[in-house]
Parts: sequence; structure tokens; C-alpha cells
Amino acid sequence: MDTAVLTPLTARRGGPLQGRARVPGDKSISHRALILGAMTVGETTIAGLLEGEDVLHTADATQALGAKVERGSDGIWRVHGVGVGGFTSPASALDFGNSGTGVRLMFGAVAGCPIRTTFDGDASLRKRPMRRILDPLEKMGARVIEQAEGGRLPLTLQGARDPLPIEYESPVPSAQLKSAVLLAGLAAPGETTVIEAEATRDHTERMLKHFGAKITSKPMGDHGRRITLVGQPELESANVVVPADPSSAAFPLVAALLVPGSDVTFEAVMTNPLRTGLFATLKEMGAKVETIATRDDGGEEVADLRVTACTLKGVDVPSERAPSMIDEYPILAVAASFAEGTTRMRGLKELRVKESDRLEATAAMLRANGVKVDIDGDDMTVTGNTTVAGGGDVTTHMDHRIAMAAVVMGLATENPVRIDDSAFIATSFPGFVELMRTLGADLT
Ligand code: S3P
Repeated sequence: MDTAVLTPLTARRGGPLQGRARVPGDKSISHRALILGAMTVGETTIAGLLEGEDVLHTADATQALGAKVERGSDGIWRVHGVGVGGFTSPASALDFGNSGTGVRLMFGAVAGCPIRTTFDGDASLRKRPMRRILDPLEKMGARVIEQAEGGRLPLTLQGARDPLPIEYESPVPSAQLKSAVLLAGLAAPGETTVIEAEATRDHTERMLKHFGAKITSKPMGDHGRRITLVGQPELESANVVVPADPSSAAFPLVAALLVPGSDVTFEAVMTNPLRTGLFATLKEMGAKVETIATRDDGGEEVADLRVTACTLKGVDVPSERAPSMIDEYPILAVAASFAEGTTRMRGLKELRVKESDRLEATAAMLRANGVKVDIDGDDMTVTGNTTVAGGGDVTTHMDHRIAMAAVVMGLATENPVRIDDSAFIATSFPGFVELMRTLGADLT
């Protein structure tokens, strides 16, 4: 991405948002479908793949590692994989752009192959912690050959010739960490187990099952899980249908709640219970989110959701809900700004290591627009008001979700909100501006 030229965007209050919308495919599932397809012999088809920059980087990386990846004229992606342990050393460094998920999942996928791979990314990705993923992979036999200070990118990993299965208790609630260990465990003999104190999104587990792996997931403690994978399976190529991304739907959905008179229906949104913390919270705030039709799409629950504008009230969001809505706090904070009363969001430590320090970036976005925000340790409190001044200039810090949250804010504030750069929105939600305009948003 060319970061030299910024592309600012201004959002203004206007008429109601109306119509039907289908947001792009889920980012988490898209990365996983490409990677698992690449680790499976035979043809895997992927319908509805998110064609955002993050996922396209993963597609390029799987090709560089030896898989064949093509987009058909029918929009279906076809992956001809090389099998577990079958990747070959890429000719040059793999560039993951802005994508933490892409790079971390791929660490796991190559950790069980006897090849040397260099990973790199943009300025935002180069700042993000990778040690948390490398620790368990080193226990499985992978070695870090070169790394930037603090175990950051650019980084070269030597995969294990004979990877070892491990039992790993995850120190942080991270689906990326869990998934990296499970992907490495595919190449190890015997059982690889990950124990998580708080359940995180389980798309890797569901998709591994879909590809024929033996994997079990048992509840542990109050909110945790114990996941065990039997290594060295014969993966069977599969057809994957990618549902619409609830984390992307969150932006126009909150916009429809906040802009008076709005009525928007969102089609085929994934409603995996480990991803729907925002919807539960909005309902507690009094939001009108109606589930119209539900179905199962290739192992994931999907629903059409109808949202109509209404007034919201502040609530307390418990820390144990954080893993199921970790990417949704910036947009929840926007909703909270317009709610009556205060909204307390607890246990937001992981927000500090996203595409930006999202805790600080979210607070700064709100403050720039006249909202009172307090941060106390890992908790954030937003004091809401049905009238919000707006008029702020928001710095997006190469973070797509800060950019989209600020745009939504500007659709409901008294004065327009301007963001410094809209380019990074394309990492997860290509077509966001056009979709919002189709619904009636005033964006220039
Ligand atoms: C993701 C996991 C989450 C999330 C990210 C996608 C995934 O990150 O923030 O956008 O697809 O596994 P962590 O695992 O770091 O919490």
C-alpha cells in the first residue's frame, strides 16, 4: 500500500440509512480457508473470500510457499495445496502488509515444515508483538534465525524437520496464538493440545474438522476450553463458503442505529457465538437488532439481521465478553458516545496490541469530537449524550477499524468528522465507502 499519499475522508450527518447490505466475507475465515487449502492435497474451493488487502497478502504467501491459488471468473477461489509439511522455501521475504492474523497463522503453518521463511509487513505490523506466538512454536522445534528488536518483524523462522506435539496453556486470550499452535500441530505426530482460560473464536477448530482432521474442544473452568488435535491427518480438500464478516457489519450496523429513521437489513452475517459480543451488548443497550432468518453455512451459523434506529442507554460490559468482541470496541465506543448514561468496558488490555494502540486511539477519536472518555488501567468509560458535537480531525494510525468507527461517528454528530487517511479501510472492508453511500451516507 502506498502510504506516502494520504486519502482523507469526511463524514456528515444526513438523512436516514436505508436498504439491504451484504458486507464482504469474514476475514478470519478467509485467511484460514487459504492456509488450510494450501496444506491439503487436492482442490479446495472458497466462495465469498474477502478480497481485502490482508487476505490477498495471505493468498500471495501461500503461492510463494508452493500452493497454487487462483480466482475464477465466477469469483470462486481455487487452492491446490501441497499437503501438511509440504511447503517449500519461498524465494524472497513474505510480505503480510498490515495483517497480524495472516503473519501469525502462517508462522504456525510453516513451523512444522523444514524450510526457512522470512516474514515482513508494514510499519504498523512491524511494531506488533510476535513473541507470544514464537514461544510455543519454539517448543515444537521451530527456530527464530533473525528478528528485529523484541522479536518483531522482519523475522526469519526455520521450521522443524520433526515437529513435536505439545500441550500449551495460552497466557493470553488470542485466537491467533491458538491457531498457530494447532496449524503447527498438524505436522507433529500425536496430540497437540491448547488450553485457553477464555474461549476465543473457534474458526480454526471448525475448519479443521471440515477438512477431516480429528479435533476435540471441551469446556474448561468458567470460560475456557481445552482443544486437542490429532497430528499428521490426511486432510481432505473441501468447499468453503465464507459468511459475511460480523466485525465489518458492525460499522454500518451501528450507523443504522445512530442515524434517526434508519432501517437496514444485513444479509448472511456470521453469528458464531464467539464473535457476537457486540450484538449482545447493543441489545442490552436497547438496540433493535432483529434476527430474520438463520441457517448453517459450512459449519458456521449465519443470519440476516434487520436494524432500526433507536436511542441507546449506557451499560457495563464485563471483561469476560472481550474475546467475543475484541475488534468491536472502537465502534461500541462510538455507540456509547450517543447513549444516555455511561458505558464501562472492562478488560481491554489486548486492544493495546492491535493495528494501533486501539485503547488510546479510540479515546483520542472520541475526545477529538467532544466526548468524555476515561481510561483506568485496562478499562474505558465513555460518558454518552444523545447530542455529540463532532467536528474533530481523527488520526487513524494505519488502523482500518479506527478509520471506519470515526466515519460512522461523523454520520451522527452535529458537525462533520474528518479522518486523516481512509486507505487502510481496504485491508478488511473493500467497498466500505461505496456501501455506506448506497445506504445514504454523506461521505466526501
Ligand atoms: C483474529 C483474532 C483476533 C482479532 C483479529 C483476528 C483471528 O486477534 O483481533 O482481528 O482471525 O484469529 P488475537 O488473536 O490477537 O486476539
